[in-house]
Amino acid sequence: AAGALWGGRFESGPAAAMAALSLSTHFDWRLAPYDLAGSRAHARVLHRAGLLTDAELAGMLAGLDQVDADVAAGRFTPDPADEDVHTALERGLIERVGPELGGKLRAGRSRNDQVATLFRMWLRDAARRVTAGALDVVDALIAQARAHPDAVLPGRTHLQHAQPVLLAHHLLAHAQALLRDVERLRDWDARTAVSPYGSGALAGSSLGLDPAAVATELGFTAPVENSIDGTAARDFAAENAFCLAMLGVDLSRIAEEVIVWTTAEFSYAVLDDAWATGSSIMPQKKNPDVAELARGKAGRLVGNLTGLLATLKAQPLAYNRDLQEDKEPLFDSVEQLELVLPAMAGMLGTLAFDTARMAELAPAGFTLATDIAEWLVRQGVPFRVAHEAAGACVRRAEARGVGLDELTDAELAECSPHLSPAVRSVLTVQGSIASRDAYGGTAPARVAEQLERLVARARDH
Ligand code: ARG
Repeated sequence: AAGALWGGRFESGPAAAMAALSLSTHFDWRLAPYDLAGSRAHARVLHRAGLLTDAELAGMLAGLDQVDADVAAGRFTPDPADEDVHTALERGLIERVGPELGGKLRAGRSRNDQVATLFRMWLRDAARRVTAGALDVVDALIAQARAHPDAVLPGRTHLQHAQPVLLAHHLLAHAQALLRDVERLRDWDARTAVSPYGSGALAGSSLGLDPAAVATELGFTAPVENSIDGTAARDFAAENAFCLAMLGVDLSRIAEEVIVWTTAEFSYAVLDDAWATGSSIMPQKKNPDVAELARGKAGRLVGNLTGLLATLKAQPLAYNRDLQEDKEPLFDSVEQLELVLPAMAGMLGTLAFDTARMAELAPAGFTLATDIAEWLVRQGVPFRVAHEAAGACVRRAEARGVGLDELTDAELAECSPHLSPAVRSVLTVQGSIASRDAYGGTAPARVAEQLERLVARARDH
């Protein structure tokens, strides 16, 4: 192979099937701008180590700039004979500055330290794009919470009616999870901001190069401590794949609720036309495809994580070609999230809630039974006894087909001698919600404070 980076000891070129298996330019081409940035930084440390003259450095940098412009304009693309992005870009440089000068750039570096560095750079930028998209979803949830400060709905456990809560409280629960996903990516970034450049194939360089200077130029906080680890480690990729999968799973939980909320049975909300689809046969249909695709793609993101972990498992140190399989799962997870996040933000931001419907259902299923029990506890009744008494109220109301608030004074007293008519103060949805006023609870004042703290946290990013 004429352009290969390793032809010296070979008599023949690679077999066609070997070359086809080896090829990665169809996916690693997106690392090209990062590879060129790495090459510029590398040229400067070669120069500082006395391995390039001033004129050679200037010529090299001009050549790299030309390649960069040609890549950006689509004038320079990989050849079928280019094994990977690194090979192709070296060919591009040599075509522009000649083999004499172009051939000097490879001193003191290996594709092993290059690719480990460039992949970190690509992922750090991608994580910032994903973070911005996730914050747009958080913003949509915050806007809905602000627009519905008093709306209530039946809070659920096991999908059964449990206790009434504020809609804003429920929406902010999703926002909390998404904001943790954002914060997790930020924590990941701090751990990933170390540069393997200068590790060489695995053992480091003998040429007096300065890995710290390269790290700084490429936006890292420091070079890696250990060149073997620098070229072998991919936990940064696996951890990122987890962060993205977790974000996907959190989005899928919102998506599932939207799917349920927009059914005829729930009718809590109606999708905006712009964020719904129709049916090719059933004229009446309005389908929640955004939410379903978000739910479906979460499975794909989980697969990308587990696939990568399986690739990494039991690989001996340092670099193995298996590691070339690290990039496609991450490229895919990022690409999918860049499709899902704006659609989820749009769908959630335009969802029209039927607050009257949710308010009507909020006390259904005896969701105020806990309020009776806790009212009794405040009268000094042990919770065990109070729980029994509230359960007796439910049994009686259910038998008569009425709500707990419709039990007569006499019926309440039969359920427990401690149940005076004063208990009616908590037998309304508003009374129940207002009473849950501890930190983090569903009382309107607590939810309003939570919202402001969340907004401040979201602004930090
Ligand atoms: N394309 C490879 C990767 O993505 C880097 C090349 C390293 N190849 C090698 N034979 N050491 O991991």
